[in-house]
Amino acid sequence: MTTILVTGANRGIGLELVKALLNNGNTVVATARQPDTANALLELKKSRPGLEIETLDVTDEQSIAKLATKYDDRSLDGLINNAGIIGPDDQSTLNMDFRGWMDTFATNTVAPLQITQALMPALRQAPQARILTISSLMGSMSHSKSDRIAYRSSKTAVNKVMQALAEDVRQFNITVACAHPGWVQTDMGGANADITPAQSGTGLIDLFEGLTIEKTGTFFNYDGTILPW
Ligand SMILES: NC(=O)c1ccc[n+]([C@@H]2O[C@H](COP(=O)([O-])OP(=O)(O)OC[C@H]3O[C@@H](n4cnc5c(N)ncnc54)[C@H](OP(=O)(O)O)[C@@H]3O)[C@@H](O)[C@H]2O)c1
Repeated sequence: MTTILVTGANRGIGLELVKALLNNGNTVVATARQPDTANALLELKKSRPGLEIETLDVTDEQSIAKLATKYDDRSLDGLINNAGIIGPDDQSTLNMDFRGWMDTFATNTVAPLQITQALMPALRQAPQARILTISSLMGSMSHSKSDRIAYRSSKTAVNKVMQALAEDVRQFNITVACAHPGWVQTDMGGANADITPAQSGTGLIDLFEGLTIEKTGTFFNYDGTILPW
């Protein structure tokens, strides 16, 4: 039985990641900023004994530390850094909300590594742990579009951080990858997006379950194809 922790699991893609992981027989630690009002997770828990719900604000150091203490003597087979924000209204190179840009970095770039470091002792206890960070093709250096540059740059940066992490934890047999979830019909992606959260979630979990150390340090699309950094 493997235990996987998912951040930002109360709605959108995160919720579908939780469902797909449970369907594959995993124990899932679904984290949310406010578990008491995470109604979809609370409903799911009624029929899924393998679901644990924990509090985590990914930008709050104390919240991260409190969660990590629960894994002091427990192994964790996987971490999916999913929580993310699109950033401020004004985020062009000619009109940037700089505070909002920093907040976007805090959530999308700094938090995934901070959470990973806090949970590293638990991940190292697993024989072959996996870390997947939900990034975005919008952060790929192969794209020259300039809209939403706070968001784009936060995803470019997290890709670089995770590529480096892959090298640093290879010695512990931990696999690290980033994934673009597709353009998904969530609050962030909007109703006109290409695919449903369930399509994205099942694709991402197929990818996640297939991650082996040979694939470490790779940026994938949700369908398993490799994307350019
Ligand atoms: N949708 C797309 O088309 C698309 C495309 C490319 C990449 N992505 C990426 O996919 C991931 C999930 O996106 P989504 O579409 O599911 O977005 P979403 O529907 O807006 O959901 C975002 C999730 O992140 C959580 N979150 C945000 N800030 C947080 C914080 N400080 N602490 C804890 N949780 C926090 C939210 O929690 P609350 O409910 O508490 O706000 C929510 O659970 C993100 O990393 C996003 O950048 C999405």
